[in-house]
Amino acid sequence: MKVLQIEKYGELKDALSFTETKKPTVSTTDILIETKAASLNPIDYKLVSGGLKDMVPLDLPITIGFDVSGIILEKGEGVTGFEIGDEVYTRVPQNQMGTIAEYVAVDSMVVSKKPENISFEAAASLPLIGLTSFQALERVGLKAGDKILIHAGSGGVGSFAIQYAKAKGAYVYTTTSTKNVEWVKALGADRVIDYKKEDYKTVVSELDIVFDTLGGDYTLDAFKIIKEGGKVSSIASIPDEETAAMMGMEGYKLPENFSTLIKEKSANYKLTWMQPNGKQLDSISDMVKEDKIKAVIDTVYSFEDAIKAYLYLAEGRAKGKVIVSMS
Ligand SMILES: NC(=O)c1ccc[n+]([C@@H]2O[C@H](COP(=O)([O-])OP(=O)(O)OC[C@H]3O[C@@H](n4cnc5c(N)ncnc54)[C@H](OP(=O)(O)O)[C@@H]3O)[C@@H](O)[C@H]2O)c1
Repeated sequence: MKVLQIEKYGELKDALSFTETKKPTVSTTDILIETKAASLNPIDYKLVSGGLKDMVPLDLPITIGFDVSGIILEKGEGVTGFEIGDEVYTRVPQNQMGTIAEYVAVDSMVVSKKPENISFEAAASLPLIGLTSFQALERVGLKAGDKILIHAGSGGVGSFAIQYAKAKGAYVYTTTSTKNVEWVKALGADRVIDYKKEDYKTVVSELDIVFDTLGGDYTLDAFKIIKEGGKVSSIASIPDEETAAMMGMEGYKLPENFSTLIKEKSANYKLTWMQPNGKQLDSISDMVKEDKIKAVIDTVYSFEDAIKAYLYLAEGRAKGKVIVSMS
């Protein structure tokens, strides 16, 4: 089968290439998906650069990609709840990565049935960003009436998180640049802050939650704009101590500047590293069926143009998701 592989660490244009590999076989708990569409995520190009080598060591060459939608072609003897021919979607686990491929074998525990009201391209756009938003926001107890700032509302994660937080009844602030203001508003954000014209720190204060998708100073500044006892939920910064322990980072301590900021605000700081989860994806499917969440797609590329698609995503200006379609 044809796949797009990471051959070596380095720049996207040098490190990726198409090749032929064996069609995967299924273990007892796996299903084999004929890929209809896949979506791209920043973790993919971060892996290519070698920037995550310590956390996620790769046995190169390896097929790239984590999000996929398609049709079940085969299933292992132990698989229940799915039949050959079902239309499904998933974020595959690390040890089964490789969705920019004609076929994908994946443990059925992380798979959900594709909502019938959306296309394969739309379905492929949702698992990683949806599960990330779900896990990062539920972990800090997002609830109706909360005032939340979601950074980068026009990005893959941000465009999902706005809709998720609105569906939960929160009041949503978000940041984006001038060209994206109107369509981000249309996703349901209550107050869109154009970061080219306004300093978000002068617009928001006393927030219940900051959803930090940007890292760096954005994480540190989040503590200035939350209320006493507020929460900073990051997906782009350093681990909190609980997460570090879960990740096996023995003896890890938060740096002093973080501990001080947390103490000053009696804040709850969490870094979420998303995990695939079929049950949680089922609940995202329900929200999609109820029209509470819509897929936000920037561009659909052909399989042959998947490297171009990665080069575009890595520019960091995508408006929603970048998709590769197999058809
Ligand atoms: N920990 C985890 O499990 C996890 C999971 C998913 C993602 N992530 C990380 O989260 C980050 C976001 O992921 P993503 O998929 O949403 O990325 P993305 O889709 O590539 O984000 C692109 C968007 O970011 C916006 N943006 C860039 N700089 C901005 C700024 N200073 N202020 C406001 N918006 C800004 C851009 O809008 P403009 O053009 O308007 O600036 C663009 O629409 C990545 O670093 C990714 O690796 C982590």
